[in-house]
Amino acid sequence: MSTRRIDTLLAEMTLAEKIGQLCQVQPEGRDQDDRVRAGGVGSLINVVGDDARHYQRLAVEESRLGIPLLLGRDVIHGFATIFPIPLGQAASFDPAGVRDAAATAAREAAAAGVNWTFSPMLDVVRDPRWGRVAESFGEDTLLASRMGAAMVQGYQGEGLAACAKHFVGYGAAQGGRDYAETAIPPRQLRDVYLPPFEAAVRAGALTLMTGFNDLDGIPATANEALVRGVLKGEWLFDGLVVSDWTSITELVIHGCAADDADAACQALLAGVDMEMASRSYRDHLEQAIASGAVPIAYVDDAVRRVLGVKERLGLFDHPFGRLRGPVSAAAADLQPRQMAQRSCVLLKNEDLLPLNEGIGRVAVIGPLADAGADQLGCWVFDADHARTHSVLAGLRERLGAHRVRFEPGLDSCRSHDEQGFAAALDAARAADVVVLCIGEDAGLSGEAHCRAYIDLPGAQQRLLDQLAATGTPVVAVVLSGRPLALAGVIDPARAVLMAWHPGSMGGPAIADLLFGEPPSGRLPMTLPRSVGQIPLYYNHKNTGRPPNPDSPRVPSGTPLDPRGFFSTYLDEDHRPLFPFGFGMSYTQFDYADLALSSPRLEPKGTLHVRMALRNVGARAGTEVVQLYVQDLCGSVTRPVKELKDFQRVTLQPGESRLVELVLAADQLRFTGRDGLSILEPGRFRLWVGPHAQAGLSAEFELAGGGTAPQASAVPPALE
Ligand code: NOJ
Repeated sequence: MSTRRIDTLLAEMTLAEKIGQLCQVQPEGRDQDDRVRAGGVGSLINVVGDDARHYQRLAVEESRLGIPLLLGRDVIHGFATIFPIPLGQAASFDPAGVRDAAATAAREAAAAGVNWTFSPMLDVVRDPRWGRVAESFGEDTLLASRMGAAMVQGYQGEGLAACAKHFVGYGAAQGGRDYAETAIPPRQLRDVYLPPFEAAVRAGALTLMTGFNDLDGIPATANEALVRGVLKGEWLFDGLVVSDWTSITELVIHGCAADDADAACQALLAGVDMEMASRSYRDHLEQAIASGAVPIAYVDDAVRRVLGVKERLGLFDHPFGRLRGPVSAAAADLQPRQMAQRSCVLLKNEDLLPLNEGIGRVAVIGPLADAGADQLGCWVFDADHARTHSVLAGLRERLGAHRVRFEPGLDSCRSHDEQGFAAALDAARAADVVVLCIGEDAGLSGEAHCRAYIDLPGAQQRLLDQLAATGTPVVAVVLSGRPLALAGVIDPARAVLMAWHPGSMGGPAIADLLFGEPPSGRLPMTLPRSVGQIPLYYNHKNTGRPPNPDSPRVPSGTPLDPRGFFSTYLDEDHRPLFPFGFGMSYTQFDYADLALSSPRLEPKGTLHVRMALRNVGARAGTEVVQLYVQDLCGSVTRPVKELKDFQRVTLQPGESRLVELVLAADQLRFTGRDGLSILEPGRFRLWVGPHAQAGLSAEFELAGGGTAPQASAVPPALE
């Protein structure tokens, strides 16, 4: 990036001032005044409000060159107003809603002086034990790409720089343990983990953050081939790359840098432009340049990028941001309520939901029924807690307090103390329905908050079992930061709503859904039956011995399965509890008349996939129509299915609509044997359906060779 302003500044800057631009510091109160005045800081992290304005004023008015600061903060799923965790937002399959939520977050953050957020997190995650799955968009590359791009647009449209993180592969932490090493085969890295970042770059993301992870021996923060090579070289990313918190000096602990000076050189040479929190650039870059270990051109390039981001954000002209007007209180409540509604996934409904407004007494039970802070989830530094409405509050508002009896049953979801059970059971017996709010508190997910077991913590399962035994129907509302192993919940509960951590307005949104607002969320991750199945994801390879679909289920605990040499477990079903993309409505949808615009797709062409969707139930509802594709024979093995497009469609009872999904030939690219991206002619199968394990099917041919085109109904893939 080169503009006159940047060229001029660069020509005037001392080496110390240049290095200063590459340093991000977390102040303790106002202890950085002198450094900011001296031009020794390019960015501050975690300063908001008056402190942010104070430091910005110092930088602009009292430093020699008046270069404004980037003021960074983790605005992950809202600022004051908290939206569902990103995993919940992914469940909405609603990129426009995600974009609008990000725009609201940006306006609120900008009003507090923040001009840079460390979001979206684009790590594809196949292991729900990893605590940061809450911050992700789940297991699918296309979903993460679309949601990430939407978030980038939402933030940056309101003047807040986005930061796509963590480049790259951090979500593949082995064992689901945060910061653990990652070992991703190069082809998978290209086809699964990198595309969401490329989509963010194409969407204009101004910044990227490198990960903490060791990626096959080369930590992401020292990975020249990926940062300088792929990101900056291939994708022509011209924004700035920041390290993660002390991830540069951690290169020494990884054991690939001799000391901090070596770590600084490696990171800068790899293409990391700014150092977060640690001080290796500040302490060692000058010497590294003097010794020739780092050419000055690398420093100049990094400084240009930092200044370029500041310029594109408009900070030279409007260092305190442009006045955009506050978010109205009404909008600030409605938007998170709608997003929370769309993020909840109905997993089971045995003739119970929606509840009738005229219902008599409702027992609201469970440690998460009135746990405002927990329903917000992780990363909510700036949340306005006074505006959080719990499930209990939502139901009381809706039904009137006299019809609602609240008994938590357990003091916290991790508790094993069953003293509260008696009162809870008493309330259940006296009620027409139990709304049981169970799951995980906010402290069970997020950075460094991983779990080895992903079932209900504490005595919650026992509470559910005993409540169900009263005979009063139980709706289980599961609030959590990750997919849980819910096999034990599905059977005893008459209805199950997966609500994730739904944010400020989660309570009213859940009340809306229980009383008739149509649920429309779909799973952004496969739900396993048990932790032993992990990693379990829909877009796996077929193997030479796929599980035999005819073999009966093997119940848990069965010691030996004599039924053959297939890719299964002896003691667990190989299938998920619920597949990716799954979610119920209060109505039923019929899929018919699948038609392709052509049985043959040209290499630069687009296939239009049409079908008739009809609401055959008695209530309005929203379906998320999903398009999956399988490459039937490639020069390398290909996944059994990959999501290629989706669309939310709302239909009144009896209404039908012609739905059109789109597949560009380019979406069929993959990384070939030689490591290059190829578009390989041949036969493909597609499905249009409600989730990854169902749908109408047809075949088409990608032109350039292969057999004659033909569209046909085909049997389901072996999974
Ligand atoms: C560490 C986390 O990994 C990263 O996601 C976050 O943005 C930074 N800390 C700053 O808080």
